[in-house]
Amino acid sequence: MDERESRYLTSVKGSLIRHPAFIGAGTAALLALLGLNVAAFVRGLDSPWLLGAVILADVMAIGGGVLVAAREVLSAERGAAQVRTALTDTQARLAAIVDSAMDAVITVDEDQKIVLVNRAAEQVFGIGRERMIGAPLDRYIPARFRSAHRGHIEGFGKTGVTSRRMGDITTLWALRADGQTEFPIEASISQAVEGGRRYYTVILRDITVRKQYEDTLKRQQQELRELSARVLEAREEEKTRIARELHDELGQLLTALKMDLAGLRQLPPGEMEEKLRGMNQLLDQTVSSTRRIAADLRPLMLDDLGLADAAGWLVDDFGKRSGVACRIEFSGADALDALSKSVATAVYRALQESLTNIARHASAKSAWVTLAVLDGVLQVEVEDDGRGIAPEDLAKARSLGLKGMRERLTQVGGALEIARAPRGGTRLRLRVPLRGIAGASA
Ligand SMILES: Nc1ncnc2c1ncn2[C@@H]1O[C@H](COP(=O)(O)OP(=O)(O)OP(=O)(O)O)[C@@H](O)[C@H]1O
Ligand SMILES: [Mg+2]
Repeated sequence: MDERESRYLTSVKGSLIRHPAFIGAGTAALLALLGLNVAAFVRGLDSPWLLGAVILADVMAIGGGVLVAAREVLSAERGAAQVRTALTDTQARLAAIVDSAMDAVITVDEDQKIVLVNRAAEQVFGIGRERMIGAPLDRYIPARFRSAHRGHIEGFGKTGVTSRRMGDITTLWALRADGQTEFPIEASISQAVEGGRRYYTVILRDITVRKQYEDTLKRQQQELRELSARVLEAREEEKTRIARELHDELGQLLTALKMDLAGLRQLPPGEMEEKLRGMNQLLDQTVSSTRRIAADLRPLMLDDLGLADAAGWLVDDFGKRSGVACRIEFSGADALDALSKSVATAVYRALQESLTNIARHASAKSAWVTLAVLDGVLQVEVEDDGRGIAPEDLAKARSLGLKGMRERLTQVGGALEIARAPRGGTRLRLRVPLRGIAGASA
């Protein structure tokens, strides 16, 4: 019989026996009976009637007492049974609530042996409660954290604090029942003393998916930081390169023309013809160098002729300069009229970077470019038959060409896929809505 039951029994008995009317009537009856007994003791031999009446009254009083006592015991037992039923109902309700909780609940005793597990905990750890109960909590914690964790729980027990969040600074890890798979958790711990024993309850949640999102977000933020630093660096490099090209290429060509022009007057007429031909060639070179430098700076052709022609020129120029045989194919190119300027620039730059990468990294013999429009979406594929791209290539910290491409496409509502090509090399596939997304600018 536990403390609550015995308290109830005492109160049941107390409520009947200590009732003032009952006590008054009982005392009066007992006093009267006592008086009768004294009278019978003194005069009993003279009056057999009195003696008989007293014996009868004594028997009735004893019988009444026995009846009252029996009734009290019976009603006390009924009360205790009611208390037990009420307690069982409350316990069942509590167990159902704990069991239906979305978070995993595990209670351990002072030896850190599991004494209670709910359904969510079974699912999270991948094991039935009948196998969890009685087992040490350690089994569900990665080996390297076990002793520290045990110490934390014991330390928490000494603080006397009722509950607290666990692992505020670091990520907490738990271990599934297979003993292999670790997963990150968010947890809180509470303690309670019951029947002189201390119990600790850990409420935890598997945060694998959230952690994956957080890690991706962190990685993307880092990439963006690197990208913006690299953009600034690239701007400076670009200025230096253009200055060098203007100086070395255009400057040289123009100086040569100037010298030719100066020497022209002194030449005999027969040689002048040939000199003029040479100067004409120099002028042609100057024009094409100027075009190339201008096209690198800003694809004016893109604004004047549109994406299809600009892409055609880019592929031709790439073929001539790199020696890689490159072909371009279009399907549904008429729909490119609807292309927004920001999408055209993003796609042009993506194509430029893909071709540069083929020249720099692929060691390819051939490359294929296709541009297709279907249902308002432009799909561009750039494929080569080179060495192929490896997953670790994509993680290179200093390489920002592909990351920049992806970022640029994302800004206009597009996406980029990088995969091994069926022919063995690399295939880049980008998809972007013709109109981009609202707010995107060139
Ligand atoms: N077509 C390809 N074939 C084989 N490997 C490739 C190809 N394209 C890219 N790679 C690999 O992927 C890496 C990342 O390319 P990415 O364009 O992002 O950077 P990068 O070309 O190295 O430098 P940059 O920042 O100047 O572009 C390259 O270093 C290369 O190893
Ligand atoms: Mg690159």
